[in-house]
Amino acid sequence: MSEPIQPLAAQPCTLVIFGGSGDLAKRKLVPAVYNLLLDGVLPPNYAILATGRKPLSDTEFREIAREGVIKYSRQEIKDSVWANFEQRLFYVAGAIDDPKAYSDIRTRLEKIEADLKLPANRIFYLAIPPTSIAGAVEGLRKAGLVQPPAGNAPFSRLIVEKPIGNDLESARQINAAVARVFDESQIFRIDHYLGKETVQNLLVLRFANSIFEPIWNHKYIDHVQITVSEAEGVGTRATYYEEAGALRDMVQNHILQLMCLVAMEPPYSLDPDVVRNVRMDVLRCLRPIAGKDVEKYTVRAQYSVGKAHGVDVPGYRREPGIKPDSTTETYVALKLFVENWRWSGVPFYLRTGKALTKRASEIAVFFKPIPQILFNANPDAPLEANVLIMKIQPEEGLTLRVVSKVPGSKAKTHPVEMNFRYGEAFGAPSPEAYERLLLDVMAGDASLFMRRDAVEASWAWITAILDGWKTHGSKWLPEYQAGSWGPVEANRLIESDGRCWRTV
Ligand SMILES: NC(=O)c1ccc[n+]([C@@H]2O[C@H](COP(=O)([O-])OP(=O)(O)OC[C@H]3O[C@@H](n4cnc5c(N)ncnc54)[C@H](OP(=O)(O)O)[C@@H]3O)[C@@H](O)[C@H]2O)c1
Repeated sequence: MSEPIQPLAAQPCTLVIFGGSGDLAKRKLVPAVYNLLLDGVLPPNYAILATGRKPLSDTEFREIAREGVIKYSRQEIKDSVWANFEQRLFYVAGAIDDPKAYSDIRTRLEKIEADLKLPANRIFYLAIPPTSIAGAVEGLRKAGLVQPPAGNAPFSRLIVEKPIGNDLESARQINAAVARVFDESQIFRIDHYLGKETVQNLLVLRFANSIFEPIWNHKYIDHVQITVSEAEGVGTRATYYEEAGALRDMVQNHILQLMCLVAMEPPYSLDPDVVRNVRMDVLRCLRPIAGKDVEKYTVRAQYSVGKAHGVDVPGYRREPGIKPDSTTETYVALKLFVENWRWSGVPFYLRTGKALTKRASEIAVFFKPIPQILFNANPDAPLEANVLIMKIQPEEGLTLRVVSKVPGSKAKTHPVEMNFRYGEAFGAPSPEAYERLLLDVMAGDASLFMRRDAVEASWAWITAILDGWKTHGSKWLPEYQAGSWGPVEANRLIESDGRCWRTV
């Protein structure tokens, strides 16, 4: 194994979680920090101060945190480790719009730092609704809790959860409110897809191997498919989802970021801003889908009654908390183009939805067919093209489909798959995305986070589609049966180009 590129060191700090009494903190954030501790990568001195409106004592918060770790942690809870860990978990109650909350946070923070001999390095994690972000950063500013970046002085950093707004205008407003208090170098906008191992491996795959980059362009690649499918319906997230829909929930952030990694040019270094610049260039090159073009390049749909994992699912408009005449899409498929030299004429097909056949995320790169001679001489039975599939979830790995000779005397061919699975190759399960991302914030490495310009560029592109739907979309969306692979209209989108969706 070659030596890793030396990562920046995680600094001793206090993680202040706004929304500390919520689901994200319990399911992801506290378990992530606990796993970092088990893996021995957490800085030796650290604390978590959670805050929310619920009046919880430290003991009650520690109990909720323990339940979360037992239920959701990647590694099992170890009582001896937990006993020390929980001594570093604290809770202070307060509402975001109440100035007293911030003086209480400040008093508590200073006491924790003094008791644990922690430097005043503070990471403020906003795991709260997007409408509360501006209020929270302003509250922090007024309470004097934010220090500007200054050399070796203690740092103040901010982590902002998605969604950052629900269109370009609201995203700009949130970004502007945050920028009034924090310098861009202090802001870490999280897209947890970027913390997944396979997603990071995309860069290694492309730029640490000699075989891919020479063919990674319009001359050899026929098209790219990105699929992010969820098996579950809207579940308990009705209120949020009804306002969002699949395009905002999945494409604006996760899927466009995956696209950027597939399509970006080689960065000249791994410096965070160099990598983010080349990702940003991809967003700049996206051909807009606006006005009437939405009819040609997009398909949106809603699930109807069916079964997911053997469980009955009502149609989306019958789900609790959903309007009976809702026009929110639970599925979207798009065909788009990156208008630059490398990708000239290569379509990218994206699809995502809820209540689909199974949960799976993958990127499939389809190479161009070989000439119609030799083994590919029969025009009625063309050979299947090579496909490189990067699997993101549930299992993480890589598959290359190649054509092979079937054993025997005839020159018969058949596609076969060469597989690499992370778990098998490296023996241990990959860390959760939130583990890697929190560690990066502690170290001040912003490579895997969204910069302001990228958030706004992707919202600008998405908002054009939303506007197009408003003006040109029909009132009733097509339906697909829950548990299926989506609407027939999505098949037509790709089949009219002589291609078809990959069976995932
Ligand atoms: N859950 C996930 O897996 C996930 C994944 C990605 C992004 N996110 C995003 O992360 C954020 C939090 O999600 P969640 O699932 O944890 O939501 P949640 O379970 O509803 O929790 C919301 C948290 O915010 C606090 N809060 C809300 N309004 C507040 C106010 N005015 N003052 C003080 N605290 C307030 C709540 O405190 P009280 O309950 O004590 O009032 C609670 O701790 C959302 O923006 C969500 O979109 C969540």
